Amino acid sequence: MRIHFHGHACFEIVGEAGRILIDPFLTGNPRATAKPGDFLQLDAILVTHGHNDHLGDAIYLSKQTEASIIAVYELAMYCQNQGAKTHAMHIGGKHQFPFGWVKLTQALHGSGIESSDGKTMIYGGPPCGFLLQMEGKWLYHAGDTGLFGDMELIGRRYPIEVAMLPIGDNYVMGVEEAVHASQLLRPKVVIPMHYDTFPVIAQDVGEFLHLLQRRVPESQGKALRPGEAFEV
Ligand code: NI
Ligand code: MN
Repeated sequence: MRIHFHGHACFEIVGEAGRILIDPFLTGNPRATAKPGDFLQLDAILVTHGHNDHLGDAIYLSKQTEASIIAVYELAMYCQNQGAKTHAMHIGGKHQFPFGWVKLTQALHGSGIESSDGKTMIYGGPPCGFLLQMEGKWLYHAGDTGLFGDMELIGRRYPIEVAMLPIGDNYVMGVEEAVHASQLLRPKVVIPMHYDTFPVIAQDVGEFLHLLQRRVPESQGKALRPGEAFEV
C-alpha cells in the first residue's frame, strides 16, 4: 500500500483493494503537485470537514470519478445536494467498504461550509478524523484537530501503522502537541501535515522530527514533501 502526499492534508492511499483520496484540496492549494484532472478513477473520497482546504475539489472529483464522498451526515447531505455521490456516516461508527474499513473519530475543530459568495456559513456537522483499515493495516488521519486525551483510547484500541497528524498550529495542534499526540497514539510512523501551506501555519518540521525522536523513539517521523509517497 502506498501513501501519496498531495500537500496540506490531502493524501491518496493506493492499495490492492482500491484507491482513495482524503481531503482533496488541490485547486487553490499553493503547495499541491496534483490537479483534479489527475484523478480519473477513485474508489472513495474521504472528507474530514467542510472547510475549503479539506472539502476542496471533493464534489468535482465525485462527479468526475463517480466515487462516493464519505463524510459525517450533515456534510454528506450538503455534498449530495451539490450533485455528488455520498456515503454518510458519523463519529464512532465504522463501515466496511470494498477497499477496507472506515471508522470516524472525533476532532476538535469547526466544520462550517462557506457559501460561494462567502457571506454565509452553512452547517456542516462536526468535524472528524478517519481510522482506516486497508490490507490489515490501520491508518489514522486526524483531520484538523487540537490535542485531545482520547487519542490515548484510539491508540490503545487500534494498532496504528501510520498516523497523519496536523502540526501547523493556529487552527490545529502545533509541533509540541503533535508530539504529545504521537505519545498517546503510539503509531509506528507519523506523517506531519497541515503546515507550511500558508504563512500563518509555517512550522519547522525538522523541530517536530527531532522532538518526536527524542520523546517518542518508538514512532518514526516521516515528513513527506508534496508529491512524495511512502510505502507501508
Ligand atoms: Ni479546518
Ligand atoms: Mn484546515
